[in-house]
Amino acid sequence: MDKMWSGRFSEASSSLLDDFNASIMYDRRLYKEDIEGSLAHAAMLQAQGILNSDELKAIQEGMAQVLQEIESGEFEWKISDEDLHMAIEKRLTSIIGDVGGKLHTARSRNDQVAVDFRRYVLRKDREIAQLLKSLLEVIVAIAEEHTSTLLPGMTHLQHAQPINFGFHMLAYASMFKRDIERFEDSRRRNNISPLGCAALAGTPHNINREMTAETLGFDSVSVNCLDTVSDRDFALEILFNISTMMMHISRLSEEIIMWSSYEFGFVELSDAYSTGSSIMPQKKNPDVPELLRGKTGRVNGNLIALLTVMKGLPLAYNKDTQEDKEGVFDSIDTAEISLEILREALKTMTVKTENMEKACQKGHLTATDLADYLVEKCGVPFRETHFISGKAVARSEALGIDISEMSFEELKKIDGRINEDVMPYLVLRNSMNARQSQGATATVRTKEQVEFFKEYIKGLNI
Ligand code: ARG
Repeated sequence: MDKMWSGRFSEASSSLLDDFNASIMYDRRLYKEDIEGSLAHAAMLQAQGILNSDELKAIQEGMAQVLQEIESGEFEWKISDEDLHMAIEKRLTSIIGDVGGKLHTARSRNDQVAVDFRRYVLRKDREIAQLLKSLLEVIVAIAEEHTSTLLPGMTHLQHAQPINFGFHMLAYASMFKRDIERFEDSRRRNNISPLGCAALAGTPHNINREMTAETLGFDSVSVNCLDTVSDRDFALEILFNISTMMMHISRLSEEIIMWSSYEFGFVELSDAYSTGSSIMPQKKNPDVPELLRGKTGRVNGNLIALLTVMKGLPLAYNKDTQEDKEGVFDSIDTAEISLEILREALKTMTVKTENMEKACQKGHLTATDLADYLVEKCGVPFRETHFISGKAVARSEALGIDISEMSFEELKKIDGRINEDVMPYLVLRNSMNARQSQGATATVRTKEQVEFFKEYIKGLNI
């Protein structure tokens, strides 16, 4: 009968219930947030005349010892203590005596867990954005090196038009930039203090919520206590942001996996970030991008799990909400290691520019350029040029060559309006460099985009 809430009970709880009900084995990772929250609360209680300064001092000293015990690994985490909030308060009280019991004045575990978990998530919003920034730096550096490395641009995974590899990497830079913005936006929106909402209805004690909000680094105080103690939108947002980010990582991983196959041969992962096979000695497997692609599944699962937990909850706090933490911790851990390993794998990856450029010679990548030529130089309507260019493709296929290798004589036979000035239009690099519209692939345009992202990174203040 050593439970804090056992006053109205006459029988001890079953050990089965203790196991089922406890969150202590995973919520203990919130110990720093919990202790900081308690210290801010105690200081406010003293400032408001609810605690005297000796009591505050005792709580502060006791908490310092609790913190030291946790960080040194001495602290005993027991399932029977249910969660970290009760474990810490219990230990505090055993160190400083009855004064420890005064700490919970004007507070409930409902606002306490809301404070701890929210602050943890806000911290992770920032740390993940910082990791994204370092990934972005690597991607932009790769892009800068390859603004004129030809690469077959694809749609439907079929050769479409020549682009450059830098341009391709900057598509991912664009995705990760949006991800940074999402984490930062969530951090700003959710930076609101729940402390002082107590169980659900606020408290009759004369507290100062502004003071604790400020001490804990929140921007403001929440408006409605009933919403605040049951709101887990901040957790859902980080889960969604991680899922979206992992979807981007997974798309890039899929490309790296394809690119490192013999069929593509566009990149080679370094030995440090590749694995071997237990049976086939020649194998070098892209386990890193494969796992990144695979881990996207589990973070999506975590998002759906919490959405489902929350969907049926009446106001205000319900114990269902305790199910919010493990999935969030798992997604955060997954996001952090994924960002780091992707960054390192990219940093050490070899780009096989020759193979990329060779691949452009297949698939008639400049067929659109022939059509564009007929529009521009001969005034032929695009629909008709499309047909003529299609015939040129068919003829190239029959000759067993790429359209970029067609002779002028052959082209002239297809349409008499074609002149010798067509030849530069079929050159792969010219095709890439001809696309100079805003945001396009031409080397000059890609270089501008590199500058844009470099400026963006420089201006980031995360
Ligand atoms: N361990 C609980 C959780 O994670 C803390 C809040 C408990 N509140 C309560 N009224 N039982 O949600």
